[in-house]
Amino acid sequence: MTQTPAQTDPTELDTETARAELTQLAAQIAHHNEAYYREAAPEITDAQYDALRRRYESIAAAHPQAVPAESAAQAVGAAPDSAFGKHLHLVPMLSLDNVFDRAEFEAFVSRAARFLGLDGEAAQELVFIAEPKIDGLSISLTYENGVFTRGTTRGDGAEGEDVTANLRTLRDIPARLPEPYPALIEIRGEVFLSKEDFLSLNTAQEAANKRLFANPRNAAAGSLRQLDPTVTASRPLSLFAYALGYSSEPLDTSHWAYLQRLKNWGFPVNPLSEQVKGAAEAESVFERISQNRALLAYDIDGVVYKIDDTTLQTRLGFAGRAPRWATAWKFPAEQATTLLRDIEIQVGRTGALTPVAHLEPVNVGGVLVTRASLHNEDEITRKDVRVGDTVFIQRAGDVIPQILGVAPPVSQTFERQAPFVFPDHCPACGALAIRPEGEAIRRCTGGLTCPAQVVERLIHFVSRQAFDIEGLGERSIREFHEAGLISTPVDIFHLHTHAAELTRRDGWGEQSVANLLRAIEERQHITLSRFIYALGIRRVGESNARLLARHYGSCTNWITQMRAAALIGSDERLELGSITGIGSAIAEELVAFMAEAHNLETLNALQAVLSIADESPQTSGGALAGKTIVFTGTLLTMTRPEAKATAERMGAKVSDTVSRKTDLVITGEKAGSKARKAAELGIETMDETEWNAFCASQGTGTPSAEI
Ligand code: IVH
Repeated sequence: MTQTPAQTDPTELDTETARAELTQLAAQIAHHNEAYYREAAPEITDAQYDALRRRYESIAAAHPQAVPAESAAQAVGAAPDSAFGKHLHLVPMLSLDNVFDRAEFEAFVSRAARFLGLDGEAAQELVFIAEPKIDGLSISLTYENGVFTRGTTRGDGAEGEDVTANLRTLRDIPARLPEPYPALIEIRGEVFLSKEDFLSLNTAQEAANKRLFANPRNAAAGSLRQLDPTVTASRPLSLFAYALGYSSEPLDTSHWAYLQRLKNWGFPVNPLSEQVKGAAEAESVFERISQNRALLAYDIDGVVYKIDDTTLQTRLGFAGRAPRWATAWKFPAEQATTLLRDIEIQVGRTGALTPVAHLEPVNVGGVLVTRASLHNEDEITRKDVRVGDTVFIQRAGDVIPQILGVAPPVSQTFERQAPFVFPDHCPACGALAIRPEGEAIRRCTGGLTCPAQVVERLIHFVSRQAFDIEGLGERSIREFHEAGLISTPVDIFHLHTHAAELTRRDGWGEQSVANLLRAIEERQHITLSRFIYALGIRRVGESNARLLARHYGSCTNWITQMRAAALIGSDERLELGSITGIGSAIAEELVAFMAEAHNLETLNALQAVLSIADESPQTSGGALAGKTIVFTGTLLTMTRPEAKATAERMGAKVSDTVSRKTDLVITGEKAGSKARKAAELGIETMDETEWNAFCASQGTGTPSAEI
């Protein structure tokens, strides 16, 4: 379809030839727009695409009378920047923690019971709703005054893509809810493609010489993220509704009742859902659903268990990215055997040397696996895994496939090699790689002189949960780093000074460079939690970054406090340690990071080019936003973790020590020295009854304040 555009000077073309070439170019551009935006499978480089468009525009400028009037010409109009609009979920879309056997399920139940302060007997009485875990993609459906107004994908959990037009094509999604309904509601569910429809879609794709989908889930995702809703309409997507995101009014006191409500509103609810009590019943439902798995028309990857009582759900709330009141009991992982071709040592952003297995490609549960994790050097020795071995591999969910061990030889064609010798020098920079006493991981000591670490940090910096810069993925980071265009994160924000040079690079054109620079500019406004996460400090993942951002509010305050926290025993160090979820190991990493001069330089330089939005607890709107509170004495109606979580949901910082900075002290039974100190300092106090009344008056159930 693609031709090199004729190179005759446009002014030398006669009108007829100009018209013919314009028509041909318009068809080519329309075809490549389709391939790029609809199929996500470009056939030419951006530079080639830009050349086609430039040629079209120069001929059109020289011969305006030859521009075709019909729709083909419109296809040459500006291509959309980003395919879908973004939308912030009213309540974040979270994921679920997993369990893999009965013991782990029982541990989940005990954790929840402990949090609620229930004794063993009461824990046995907890009722759960078991539902098949559909292997599709989660979506959120907004109804305003009973009318379907918006549908979004999960996105990063906080913000999703607006795919309303496509979701309107699903028969399973009612356009209107029958009365009564709350004024505003967000309903959550899973969109999926049946196994049969997946097979016929792939047959059609093959016949049309188009890309095949690896599994029904990918096919469903590809079908939903279509720019043209008529394409989505042609793919038979289905839905099961299973959760509540947000409701402007209190709805049901049990999840079961909510599911019945969804059914009455016209949503499909999975018919295998049922109420269970205790681990034994939960296990028998799991067994039954496992046995039926192959017979179901759609893919499932486990069974979800949700505490039925919504008051208990609210009290339990969320920890990190998952609710404390639900878990997914996953099916055992898929396994296969294949040949281990090579072991490569990769260097991560914190210098960790990780062995990665290169495998003879093998299909594991519908996914082609070519690489697997070998964890660390002890694992290789323990399993005596060698290049040339046939190995057992396992894939569970989205995690990187693992090597379980050596299988009996299947083929004799590849010889078993000598035991693998783990390097004691970094393969990327040659610096010494050391393994501290008692640790499993060997690390490169090269720091920022190690190109592998530098590149991995840059890749982390632009990753989806961090700066999420469209068009700047792993490949471009490696390319720009190699070309000497970026070596620290701040260089990314100076890339515009190299615009001309970028445009000349292979695979880049004016259009794609302009898009990239615009995407970078857009990300100069960033939230504090994304910023902290992007720095790639060891042990500071998304959830800890969010805790720190909420606690310290502004970037400058965070940096000042972290530097002061270097002094063990200082108020700042105590404050850092008092943040729920921030243990001493994390505190040490933060302090160590701030102690490095080059890190402070990077922070200063980034602060100069970025606008980092404050995230004071005030922004989460809680009744105790910005207040520091202390619990003391024995609480009778709730456990300490629950009390702490409730206070944090209302925006409070919970501390263990009473000081002048304390705003409120909650006194349980036998409150001692802390209550006395509060009285001395004239700090407001509440007893447990007053505290409970206060919480009830605030309705502490909004999970949005939690993450
Ligand atoms: S409930 C706050 N129920 O599993 C809890 N999720 O691994 C929200 N999923 O992101 C989820 N079937 O995409 C729930 N019956 C079910 C589900 C289900 C599939 C998916 C969902 C979620 C993922 C978590």
